Amino acid sequence: MTTKRNILVTSALPYANGPIHMGHMVEYIQTDIWVRFQKLKGNTCYYVCADDAHGTPIMLHAEKRGITPEQLIEEISIDHKADFADFLIDFDNYYSTHSAENQTFAESIYLRLKAAGHIVSKTIKQAYDPEKNMFLPDRYVKGECPKCGTKDQYGDNCEACGATYSPTDLKNPVSAVSGATPIEKESEHMFFKLSNFENMLHEWTSNTDNPNGHQTVQTEVSHKLKEWFDVGLMDWDITRDAPYFGFNIPETDNKFFYVWMDAPMGYLASFSNLCDAKGIDFDDYWNPNSKAEVYHFIGKDIINFHTLFWPAVLEGAGYRKPSAVFAHGFLTVNGQKMSKSRGTFIKARTFLDHLNPEYLRYYFAARLNNRIDDLDLNFEDFAQRVNSDLVGKVVNIASRCAGFIVKRFDKTLASEISEPELYNKFVNAGESIAAHYENREYHAAMREIMELADTANQYIDEKEPWVVAKQVNNDKELQNICSTGINLFRVLITYLKPILPATAEKAETFLNCGSLDWEAINTPLSNHSINKFKALMTRVDIDKIDSMIEASKETAATEEDKLVSGPLADDPIRDTIEYDDFAKIDLRIALIANAEHVEKADKLLKLTLDLGGEIRQVFAGIKSAYAPEDLVGKHTVMVANLAPRKMRFGLSEGMVLAAGPGGKDLWILEPQKGALPGMRVK
Ligand code: MSP
Ligand code: ZN
Repeated sequence: MTTKRNILVTSALPYANGPIHMGHMVEYIQTDIWVRFQKLKGNTCYYVCADDAHGTPIMLHAEKRGITPEQLIEEISIDHKADFADFLIDFDNYYSTHSAENQTFAESIYLRLKAAGHIVSKTIKQAYDPEKNMFLPDRYVKGECPKCGTKDQYGDNCEACGATYSPTDLKNPVSAVSGATPIEKESEHMFFKLSNFENMLHEWTSNTDNPNGHQTVQTEVSHKLKEWFDVGLMDWDITRDAPYFGFNIPETDNKFFYVWMDAPMGYLASFSNLCDAKGIDFDDYWNPNSKAEVYHFIGKDIINFHTLFWPAVLEGAGYRKPSAVFAHGFLTVNGQKMSKSRGTFIKARTFLDHLNPEYLRYYFAARLNNRIDDLDLNFEDFAQRVNSDLVGKVVNIASRCAGFIVKRFDKTLASEISEPELYNKFVNAGESIAAHYENREYHAAMREIMELADTANQYIDEKEPWVVAKQVNNDKELQNICSTGINLFRVLITYLKPILPATAEKAETFLNCGSLDWEAINTPLSNHSINKFKALMTRVDIDKIDSMIEASKETAATEEDKLVSGPLADDPIRDTIEYDDFAKIDLRIALIANAEHVEKADKLLKLTLDLGGEIRQVFAGIKSAYAPEDLVGKHTVMVANLAPRKMRFGLSEGMVLAAGPGGKDLWILEPQKGALPGMRVK
């Protein structure tokens, strides 16, 4: 018997500034599966989280809406909680960083750090908006990149050339809040002396004697850490000046804790709030010698906060440090960054409006490993895996066997298991499946479970219960086969319970066996009465995926989205050219005199272009977007002096101009009325 563990688990606290989306769900699903697995194994495991409610963006967002920040975070908290609940994320507590508990932690930890000499004060110069009377975070100063001159860049780095700099380096800077030209202003700030903790951090990150062999940080993360250590640990600015939505710093007026100072304390606050409600001893988990395990699940973008600042703050204030920090990669959709214009920036709620949350839980599980590589949500693969694995394999086992047991044997399973070897094989696989769950190698766990499902289906195929059912005097055999099938199904659905809690619950009703748990499968169900089988899960309907993507398309992309995706971001403007370079290109108006399909070419149309005296034949790759008859008689623009090119289908004497990503989304240029064939475009 292994001893039961005491574990506290967190996911990063989502900002109370917008909806939960598919990217977030990678993290909450990954964590929830891990927690449910620990509980299924009989360990004591608490899962806490909260909204991250402070900071400038939330303050300005509320102001724009004409409500208080408190109203905004309340509203968002309701949505976040509903999204998580509907994705079956089973928090033991979901709280807010804007809470009394968190304020107490922020103040006491700060005062402890200060008393221990880890806080210093410095006067610094910062960008300041003289109209709005506020200091501007880097992201709120925009201007021209000091390196490449690209306009409309943020104050911290350039999206065009990748340069990093400080907001004061920008040319022609403006405040993104008011449009005013920022000035520089001095202010006194408090800094946390991270370098005081360098030795401790080295030791902590390289600790090899963690519970269950977990590395404190993953190998890729320790490489990143090494880079940061090599550069040197700098003092960390934890102050923000008013106006700011956050907690006032003790012993100061108008100075607030930077949101990232009190955000991780939200883990403590949420847990402490749970402890009060449930009578758990907070200290058992957080005293410096605690034997309990503490794990933070996070995305790769916030590694520095969780593996440098947070453990240092905990150490400095006399708390234990996390047992390990588990980082994951970022989500892409259909191979690309999530984009509002492509309809792949999918909100949790939009997914729920169209599809079953367990589909996503299973798909992510089938793709997740314990590294920090990015993860792609490919909808074709998604539908295929869910349909073939869950519906086609797992659920199928039960549905093939249940009917006979119900109709022919008064719902009763055979009095003993007729294939003990097969059954034991399924039970024995539990050890390696459990190890995969523990190590966050969910993809490997899913592969093993699906291999077992194949084995179970093969067994049924070979035994052909539908044939046996028609034989005279072979009832015992029929009952044995179907009882074995149902017992194998029970083992598999137990293994899948962390992924598919709702389906597992339906299976519990069907099996009439109480709550499925990891220990119980050691004893098969025999002479046991089950309930009528009802469909446990239906196939993914592809139309629903399409309508979900359609519903996610926002035609008027927001300002923010335009910067991260959209034509300019996806395909930046090329290097500047001189007029002479441009003048070399001879662009002419052409009449499309004829257009026709080209035999054996799936992308090309053959165009006959009339330049008003000269006829040109051009093969254009626009077949996916135009039918020939739509083009004949129209005017367009062509490159008239492009060197002719010999193609498989004939000579192409020029090029027509078109815009768009391709496929159906391709649009050829058409001049305003009045332009005549042969006219130069200049
Ligand atoms: N508020 C901070 C975390 C504070 S923790 C003390 C924050 N919030 S967030 O809303 O931006 O992100 C919450 C979590 O979701 C982070 O771990 C982040 O990495 C993760 N993800 C957000 N977008 C993601 C993807 N597109 N893909 C995968 N995870 C992503 O950061
Ligand atoms: Zn630049």
